Amino acid sequence: MQIGFEEQTAEKLQPEIHRFLAGWGGGAAAGSLGKMQLVRQAARQRDLSSLQAVARILVEGIDELASRKPEQAQILRLRFLDGLAMHVVANRINRSEPAAYKLQRKALRSLTDIIYRQELALKAGRNEAIFARLGAPEYDRLFGIDELLSNVMELVQSPSQPWLILLEGIGGIGKTSLADALVRKAVVAGVVEHVGWVTARRQIFRLSGRIDAAKTPTLTTAALVENLANQILRDTPLPVPFTVEQVLPLLRQRLNEEPHLIVVDNLETVVDLETLLPALRLLARHSKILLTSRRSLLAEAHLYHCQIPELSPESAFALLRHEAQLRNVHALAAADDDALHAIYATVGGNPLALRLVAGQTLVHDLPSILVALTNARGESASQLYNFIYRNAWDSLDEIAQRTLLVMPLAPPQGLVFPLLAQTSGLAESELYDALDRLVRLNLIDRRGDLENGRYSIHPLTQSFLQEQVLRWK
Ligand SMILES: Nc1ncnc2c1ncn2[C@@H]1O[C@H](COP(=O)(O)OP(=O)(O)OP(=O)(O)O)[C@@H](O)[C@H]1O
Ligand SMILES: [Mg+2]
Repeated sequence: MQIGFEEQTAEKLQPEIHRFLAGWGGGAAAGSLGKMQLVRQAARQRDLSSLQAVARILVEGIDELASRKPEQAQILRLRFLDGLAMHVVANRINRSEPAAYKLQRKALRSLTDIIYRQELALKAGRNEAIFARLGAPEYDRLFGIDELLSNVMELVQSPSQPWLILLEGIGGIGKTSLADALVRKAVVAGVVEHVGWVTARRQIFRLSGRIDAAKTPTLTTAALVENLANQILRDTPLPVPFTVEQVLPLLRQRLNEEPHLIVVDNLETVVDLETLLPALRLLARHSKILLTSRRSLLAEAHLYHCQIPELSPESAFALLRHEAQLRNVHALAAADDDALHAIYATVGGNPLALRLVAGQTLVHDLPSILVALTNARGESASQLYNFIYRNAWDSLDEIAQRTLLVMPLAPPQGLVFPLLAQTSGLAESELYDALDRLVRLNLIDRRGDLENGRYSIHPLTQSFLQEQVLRWK
C-alpha cells in the first residue's frame, strides 16, 4: 500500500516543484508529485493525466501567488512557463541576475507553501470524513493491544498477500475496537488514504446492561456492494436500477487503481456469506480488506486469521482502574489486587464484561456483582450472556452443547482430546466434530501443537456455563 503524502514535507516538495517547472514544455514527469492527493483528485475530477494535473495545479498555484505577490508570480511565469533565460528575465524585471535568482528562490518557496497547504487541507477534510464514517469510538483507551495492533498494521501496510485479514474472537473481545484503532492510526500515519467501513452489527450492548437493536439493515452481498459503492465511487454515477453485476466491476477497478482499506464488521451476521466472500476476494487485490467475525471461517481459503486474545490480568487490571478513574468509582479505584483477581476469575480478560463490571460497581458492591454473574441473576448479567452467547448456543446441536457443558471440569491449562473424550463420555468421532464447531465459534480455545492440542474456555464462558445456560436448556 502506498505511503501517503504526510511523508512528504514542504522541504522535500520544493525541489520536486522546481524540477517539474524546469522541465515545462517537454521533459517534465509527474514523479512523486503524482502521488499527491491534490493531483489525484484533479486527475479524476477533470479527467486529466497525472502530468496534466500537476501542470494545472502549479498554474493555479501561481495564479493564487499573483494576487498576493505579483513579482514572484511574474518571475515564475517568465522563467518557467515562458521558458526565458535568467539574464533575459532579469533584464525584463529590472534586476541584476543574482537578485533575480534570489527572487526566484523566494517565489518557489511561496508556491510550495501554497501547494502544501492545499494538500494538507484536502487531507484533513478527507480524514475528517473518514472519522465521521467510523463514528465516535466506544473506547477512550485500549489496553494490551499494542503488539497486535502493530502486527496487523504491518499486514495492512505490505503491498502483497494477505489481502483479506480476519480478526476473529468471541463477542466483546475487542475486534471492532481493534479495527477502529487500526484505521485511525493508519489514516493519521498516511499508511492508507482511502477507507471504506461497512458494519453488519445487529445488536449493541450498552454498558448499562441493555441490548439495543442496531439501526443498520441486515447485510447481504447486494447491500454491502451498494454501501461500499456509495462510499468509494462518490464521483461516479451509479447505474439505476442498482445491480451487483454492474457495480462490482466498477468498484473493483477503483480499488485496483487506488488502494483502499475496507473494513467489514461483524461478518458472522451476513446472511449470504457464501456469495459475499468470493465478491470480497475479487475486490481485494491492491486493496486490503479487514473483516471481523465471531466465527472463525476456518474453511475459507485466502483468509489470514488473527485471533483476538483475552486481555492479560495486567491489562485487565489497567482497564478496570482506568474505568474506575473515568467514572469516578471510588470503591473500584480503591480495590486491592485480590478484588481485581476475583473479577478476573469471573469474567477473564473480556473487555466488554470487564467494563460492565466496572460500571456496576457504581451501584452494587463487588461480591454481589460477581455472584450475580455466576448465578446469572439480574438483568445486566443475563443480557450480557444473551449478547455474547445466545446465537452461538442456539446454533449448536446437542452433542456440541454437551461438549461445552463438560468444559468447566477442565483445569485452566485445558484438557487434551483423550481426556475430554473420557470426561464427556462421547464417542471420539462425535467429540471431534463437536470440538470443530465449538472452536470455530470461538467458544472453546485450542492451544498447543497439532498433536497435543489442549482445549479450554474463557473464564467468562465458564461463568456463563454455571447457571445461565441451564435456563436456556
Ligand atoms: N483492548 C481494550 N481495552 C479497553 N477496552 C476495550 C478493549 N477492547 C475492547 N474494549 C471495549 O470493550 C467493548 C467491546 O469491544 P468490541 O465492541 O470491540 O468487541 P467485539 O469483539 O467487536 O464484539 P462483537 O462480537 O459484539 O462485535 C467496547 O466497549 C470496547 O470499547
Ligand atoms: Mg464488534
